Amino acid sequence: MIVQPPKTFSDNAHYNPESLSALRKNISDNPDSFWEEIGRRLDWIKPWTNTKEVSFKKPVSIKWYLDGKLNACHNALDRHLPKHADRTAIIWEQDDPKNDPVKITYGELHRQVVQMALVMKKRGVKKGDRVTIYMPMIPAAAVAILACARVGAVHSVVFGGFAAQSIAARMEDGESDFVITADEGLRGGKKIPLKQTVDEALNIFKNARHVLVVKHTGGKINWQEGRDLWLHEEVKTVSGDLPCEPMDSEDPLFLLYTSGSTGKPKGVLHTTGGFLAWVNYTFEKVFDYKQNDVFWCTADVGWVTGHSYLVYGPLSNAATTVLFEGVPSYPSNSRFWEVIDRHKVSIFYTAPTALRALMKEGDAPVKKTSRKSLRLLGSVGEPINPEAWNWYYETVGDSRCPIVDTWWQTETGGILISSLPGAIAMKPGSATFPLPGIKTVLLTVEGKVIEGPGEGVLAIADSWPGQMRTVFKDHKRFEETYFSTYPGYYFTGDGCRRDEDGYLWITGRVDDVINISGHRIGTAEVESSFVANPNVAEAAVVAAPHDIKGSALYVYVTLKSGITPTPALKEELKQWVRKDIGAIATPDWIQFAPAVPKTRSGKIMRRILRKIAESDGSVTPSELLKTLGDTSTLADPSVVEDLIANRVRV
Ligand code: WT7
Repeated sequence: MIVQPPKTFSDNAHYNPESLSALRKNISDNPDSFWEEIGRRLDWIKPWTNTKEVSFKKPVSIKWYLDGKLNACHNALDRHLPKHADRTAIIWEQDDPKNDPVKITYGELHRQVVQMALVMKKRGVKKGDRVTIYMPMIPAAAVAILACARVGAVHSVVFGGFAAQSIAARMEDGESDFVITADEGLRGGKKIPLKQTVDEALNIFKNARHVLVVKHTGGKINWQEGRDLWLHEEVKTVSGDLPCEPMDSEDPLFLLYTSGSTGKPKGVLHTTGGFLAWVNYTFEKVFDYKQNDVFWCTADVGWVTGHSYLVYGPLSNAATTVLFEGVPSYPSNSRFWEVIDRHKVSIFYTAPTALRALMKEGDAPVKKTSRKSLRLLGSVGEPINPEAWNWYYETVGDSRCPIVDTWWQTETGGILISSLPGAIAMKPGSATFPLPGIKTVLLTVEGKVIEGPGEGVLAIADSWPGQMRTVFKDHKRFEETYFSTYPGYYFTGDGCRRDEDGYLWITGRVDDVINISGHRIGTAEVESSFVANPNVAEAAVVAAPHDIKGSALYVYVTLKSGITPTPALKEELKQWVRKDIGAIATPDWIQFAPAVPKTRSGKIMRRILRKIAESDGSVTPSELLKTLGDTSTLADPSVVEDLIANRVRV
């Protein structure tokens, strides 16, 4: 099925089919001038001398806009002040809709950022220091991010749903001794004890100098004199302006930890010039942003989507961005649509998992709202199934608003594959084509380039400004993870199909990373959490399909001898992982297994475990056994029958 964008949309869009094909031709004739144009979208203290210096071959090195000097906070705030000081930068919609929304102008946001930056500086934060941010969805989260950028500190935001251990591990790896948090968060009427979790984290990682605390709920918290600082007290002790720190284009802007297929989460490092230029450009073009649009991205600031399209993309374009503290189901399933009506949101960007959850509640909660202000819808995080796509298009958008299905990753900094809404006809479930300047390729498993229709792994043949530069303190891991399997290419970890019309269809991860509700969890991380439990001898984690989350965790657990498998123990293990990593890593299914299938050389046969986890009650055990293929390489083929007989997702 092909869905054409409405003509009224194309007529006024940044790109229409003709201008897009002219641009693509220009880029292929003269790529440098395109990248230069993208760089020029920003304000530079000192212009760059060399646009691009990249090697995808070892030693891998990625540099953009070399020798240029700029500041990201200046580009997001200060440069707009002469003309737009009174324009709304952030509309904060609180968890409880009875509390009035708060509108913050560019002028006011600038004032708050300067104040927080002055406090940080006074408390010893210097250029290059890593600052950990563990915040609820309140304006101070954006203020903290921009204040870091202003003083040249590297922010490392930890999603507010992660547990103490995860905060501690990120602080340790990032060598961060300064934390910004709030007393408590609020979500769906429930209080989230953020400061308390930071306290627990700092019992594990003991090197923190200061915790800067934003008063939000006013709930009671523990206090460590000397270490803990109230923001509202601290700001009374500072005054005046604080100029933006001049940063090199390649100075780090932020670290964001993300799960990989092996080992602990890696610190994805993004630098100042290239990242900002790419999110600035993609925000405007993919979302067809124009003055007077109200843009709402529902992602949390703790994920890359929040960094790029809640904070840096919109603000560097002087746009109005909605920051929503709550959840889609509170106080009712109409909340998203009510917020859209309340703030006249014109561009709405959310994840398929949220759409599936709302779709289940029927059309009535949507239909009772107007949604007339909407003109464009976006999707991100995982492939959007055509059923959810159609519902989004017809029910939410009244068949009036194009959908941009945006493919990208923490590592890519910004969107790489998406339709440009006035220029590309949509196919539900396809992210369509690479953006101008992006050289996607499909490779066979052996690394041969697939031309035309076909299916393979998705790689990128050349750099773009928003690309991550390294894994923090581990450049070797960066090279190994992304540039070794297919030398000369950036390997995405995703599978992808190209159809007869050249449209790209992401088929999901090809590595041991599981996409749960659009968030990444590495199997290795969850397995090591399980094995750290005194009752567990071995654990194998695989993905199983889930109606709302897309995928969820299915875990095979072998207990230590003498330990009795009970439902209570299952529950205990779920809570264990939740406490250790965070709620998103909580398994949906645990199956106790006498052993997990291994090859004679001791390698876990995940293919088999995946097949069993994917099957449900509609397949009989003997049918399932047949689909497993060759099990003769197993050290003990009989374990498979036990696993099938005791599968738990039936
Ligand atoms: C992985 C990256 C990018 C921000 C959110 C997630 C999957 C992302 C799509 C899409 C199909 C998608 C991929 C990718 N993914 N967007 N539109 N269609 N798959 O960032 O946590 O770094 O995860 O999310 O598998 O590799 P992330």
